[in-house]
Amino acid sequence: NEGSLWGARFAEGPADALAALSKSTHFDWALAPYDIRASKAHARVLNRAGLLTDDDLVGMIDGLDRLASDVADGSFGPAETDEDVHGALERGLIERVGAELGGRLRAGRSRNDQVAALFRMWVRDGIRRVAVVTLDVVDALIAQAQAHPDAVMPGKTHLQAAQPVLLAHHLLAHAQPLLRDVDRLSDLDRRTAVSPYGSGALAGSSLGLDPAAVAADLGFDAPAENSIDATSSRDFAAEAAFVLALIAVDVSRLAEEVILWSTAEFGYVTLADAWSTGSSIMPQKKNPDVAELARGKSGRLIGNLTGLLATLKAQPLAYNRDLQEDKEPIFDSVAQLELLLPAVAGLVATLTFHEDRMAELAPAGFTLATDIAEWLVREGVPFRVAHEVAGASVRVAEERGVGLIDLDDETLQSINPALTPEVRSVLTVRGSIESRDAHGGTASVQVDRQRAKAQELSASL
Ligand code: ARG
Repeated sequence: NEGSLWGARFAEGPADALAALSKSTHFDWALAPYDIRASKAHARVLNRAGLLTDDDLVGMIDGLDRLASDVADGSFGPAETDEDVHGALERGLIERVGAELGGRLRAGRSRNDQVAALFRMWVRDGIRRVAVVTLDVVDALIAQAQAHPDAVMPGKTHLQAAQPVLLAHHLLAHAQPLLRDVDRLSDLDRRTAVSPYGSGALAGSSLGLDPAAVAADLGFDAPAENSIDATSSRDFAAEAAFVLALIAVDVSRLAEEVILWSTAEFGYVTLADAWSTGSSIMPQKKNPDVAELARGKSGRLIGNLTGLLATLKAQPLAYNRDLQEDKEPIFDSVAQLELLLPAVAGLVATLTFHEDRMAELAPAGFTLATDIAEWLVREGVPFRVAHEVAGASVRVAEERGVGLIDLDDETLQSINPALTPEVRSVLTVRGSIESRDAHGGTASVQVDRQRAKAQELSASL
């Protein structure tokens, strides 16, 4: 069992099936650059504590730098006998600087505080990359909103025609949750920026090493308050898994609409050729695969979140090997979003909207009925009565197979004397939209304001 980090008290090496089960180098190799960076920080505090001479420190840093470049160019990698990234890198260091010097680095640290610290470093970088591609989707939505300032569409609730809205208003309604998700990422980064280094296996270090110095060296805001907590808690990872899943879920809502909008029945949009796919049997097909994969990936990311939570549930303090299962779900969620979001941004940016079709459908289904009721309220009619009058107007128009605006003066009067011809001012899609001019509403003045603010926010994040 030569070379293992823990073989001395064992008479024989691990059984093959145990070694295979235990092994994590196929995924935790992603932590290698962080491991080496942290080892350099650790060497510096060992030196400051008088446990490594100045010459030894120089030799150690040089060895670690050479190891880092060999890892980066692939000339050093995990061997069949390596259990995890930490053991493999110690082997690599010893190969470069000898067992006497290389064997000094592990003093005062354990793989438990090490892996917790490295995973936090990886998560912080990973969520920053996801924030960038999430904002690309936001920017594509904002650009489409800006390109279509006047386009109207049927706003829906329950997927039924409700009230006309501006297309830009609707597109920005998909940008808002994604902006909040990016804010969530920076918020959870604050809690992730706490260093477990110096916690040792669980109880802390007796060697006079300075956890605050290592924390600062590695870009953390502070060292952890409690070594038992620091080595055993993964709430930072669960939080990341949640926000990553939420991004996928938020994107899936947009994706579902793009899928609907691109059907012949809706006819709102045409997908760009570069962002759609064909069928191997039906030559006429143009499929919204990007949007469907977005919808599908959301299920996968929800699975990563629930899987991680299940792994964490009921684990006693402190470190348990169960925690080795914490990394793959997070690595996967980040990797999937890095694949997905650039494609979604491309899909959104290249949608061709059919403004005429959306404008034609905007008033269909008597979507201006609420405007009659609210016009009557402005004329002093109680809303309960106004709602009935508007409902009666819909019934009459429906019976005659005409729109609300086509009801003649006499008919309006017969429905209710308060219904004077002036009501027609709100019975156009444009009139209805521009009348909703309170903060957050669909009037163009408000949508323009909202778009400018979202643009500013996206640029600041
Ligand atoms: N590879 C482990 C992990 O990912 C870290 C090693 C800790 N192992 C141990 N037996 N204490 O969590």
